[in-house]
Amino acid sequence: MQIFVLPSYEGMSKKAADIVAAHIILNGKTVLGLATGSTPVGMYKQLVNKFKAGELDFSGVKSVNLDEYVGLAPSHKQSYRYFMQTNLFDHINIDKNNTYVPDGLGDIDNAGRYDDIIASLGGIDLQVLGIGHNGHIGFNEPSDSFAYGTHVVTLTESTISANSRFFDSRDEIPKLAVTMGIGSIMQAKQILLLASGFDKAEIIKEAFCGPITPRVPASVLQLHHNVILVGDEAALSKLVKK
Ligand code: F6R
Repeated sequence: MQIFVLPSYEGMSKKAADIVAAHIILNGKTVLGLATGSTPVGMYKQLVNKFKAGELDFSGVKSVNLDEYVGLAPSHKQSYRYFMQTNLFDHINIDKNNTYVPDGLGDIDNAGRYDDIIASLGGIDLQVLGIGHNGHIGFNEPSDSFAYGTHVVTLTESTISANSRFFDSRDEIPKLAVTMGIGSIMQAKQILLLASGFDKAEIIKEAFCGPITPRVPASVLQLHHNVILVGDEAALSKLVKK
């Protein structure tokens, strides 16, 4: 595992954008696994800046997102499709037909079809991840076992509370989500986990220094051969000694 500790959120975002950019420069047809949430927003801004500066060409890039709320249409302002459009896709030259986000209005009994899409793209070259306070990656919540493929999950109280900041009222927050499974994530050739803020320090330590357990889903990343952890000093303060 490679670890980059940056002094600030901005530094973390720049380093993460450089890593994503390197993939695109080396392979114009790279398949990116993408995440939403607060953490990668700065990285997406940096990628948009690089595109506007003529440094990146997204025309051959394909993307698959980790997750989506069940019941939210792509046009809903809190849907993850909307997040991706407004934070990245609307500002770069990616072909929208090559961007995939699980369908929040789709047939939840057949959520696993998303894995066929990932397979048809040839798998994920670089999977970007954030981490929940409870150790979730994507929406793989703490559980008794690791779920392999894309599936529907019931969000935990911890996740609902964390995400309530985006909704007008708690009642509006969907209780179900579709998420890529741990198997789909672990098959990515390289994983880029981003973490920012002191509130993530304890879970980062648990995930990378504690036992590998589905109770801390991110701990499974200890078994992946190619993980890059990019964080600010606060998030990595319990992991890295100065
Ligand atoms: C979002 C996702 C989640 C977030 C996690 C951290 O697509 O997969 O696992 O990465 O909840 O969210 P933030 O970055 O808002 O702290």
